[in-house]
Amino acid sequence: MNKKGDLNMIGFIGAGSIGGAVITGLVKNGYDENEIIVKGGKSSRTKDLRDQLGFKIVSKIKQLADTDVIFIGVGANALDSVLKELKDIVDGKLVVAFTGTGTVAHLKQVLGYDKVAHAIPNTPVKVGAGFTGITYSDKFTPEDKKKVASILGYTGQLVEVPSEQLGILGTVAGCSPAFLDLFIEALSDAGVKHGLSRELAYDAAIGMAIGASKLAKQSDLNPSALKDEVTSPGGSTIKGVAALEENGFRNAVIKAVDAAEGE
Ligand SMILES: NC(=O)c1ccc[n+]([C@@H]2O[C@H](COP(=O)([O-])OP(=O)(O)OC[C@H]3O[C@@H](n4cnc5c(N)ncnc54)[C@H](OP(=O)(O)O)[C@@H]3O)[C@@H](O)[C@H]2O)c1
Repeated sequence: MNKKGDLNMIGFIGAGSIGGAVITGLVKNGYDENEIIVKGGKSSRTKDLRDQLGFKIVSKIKQLADTDVIFIGVGANALDSVLKELKDIVDGKLVVAFTGTGTVAHLKQVLGYDKVAHAIPNTPVKVGAGFTGITYSDKFTPEDKKKVASILGYTGQLVEVPSEQLGILGTVAGCSPAFLDLFIEALSDAGVKHGLSRELAYDAAIGMAIGASKLAKQSDLNPSALKDEVTSPGGSTIKGVAALEENGFRNAVIKAVDAAEGE
C-alpha cells in the first residue's frame, strides 16, 4: 500500500537522466520506495540510485510481471528492443514511455498492445516541481489516466495534450531548463563582473528565478504585465529590457526552440 492511497507496484525500465529523475522525485516526495521495481542498464547508475533511494532492482524485464504500471526511460536506441521484450508480460498493465521522439502509434505498433502513453517529463521532476506533458492512447480509460496521474503527480504537474502538441510542449518545458540555466549563469557572470562573489551572484540569480516564477504562477497578471509593473518610465529596468531587446533576447529564445524542434 502506498503512503498516499491504494496504488500497487510500479516498474521502471531505464533509470538514467530522466527515469532516474522521475524515480527520485517520486521517492523524495513520499512515494513508497518499496513499491518501485527498476530494471536498469549495464552501468552502475541504477545501483548507485538504489543505494540512495532504496527501491528494488531486477535484472530482467519479465521480473516486472507483478507491476501495474511500467515507465520506460531508455534512449531511442534501446526502445524497440525493450518494447519487444515487454510484450510477454504487458497484458493488463499501463505503459508510459518517456521518449523524446516517437509516438503513441509507434509504441502501440512495436509493443503490439494498446494501453500505452507517451510522456515527456523535464528534469525538475527530481524535486517535485516538474512539468510533464502526456498523450494517452485512446484505450486509456479515465480510471487508467487517474492512476498514472496519481503516480506522476508526486513529481509535479502533469498535463494531457493531443499527440501533435506533445513535441513542442516537451521542448518548451523539457529543453528549457538548460536555457534557464544559461540565463542564470549569464546573470551571475554579470553580478561577478560588477563585484559580487560568485556564490552570492548565483544565490541572487537562482533566488530571483524561483521567486519570479512563483509570482508569475500565482499572479493574475501575465508575464508581460508583470514586466510592465517593474519598468518605471526612464528607470533602470526598462533600460535593461531595451538592452536585452537590442541584443535579440526574445528572438534568441524563439530561435532556440526552433532549433530544438529541428527547424
Ligand atoms: N534527459 C531529459 O531531460 C529528457 C526529458 C524528456 C525525455 N527524455 C527522453 O528520455 C529517454 C531517455 O533519456 P535520458 O536522458 O534519460 O537517457 P540516459 O541518461 O542515457 O538514460 C537511459 C538509461 O537507459 C538505460 N538502459 C539502456 N538499455 C536498457 C535496457 N535494455 N534495460 C534497462 N535499462 C536500459 C541506460 O542504462 P545504463 O547507462 O546503465 O546502461 C541508461 O541509464 C530519451 O528518449 C530522451 O529523449 C529525456
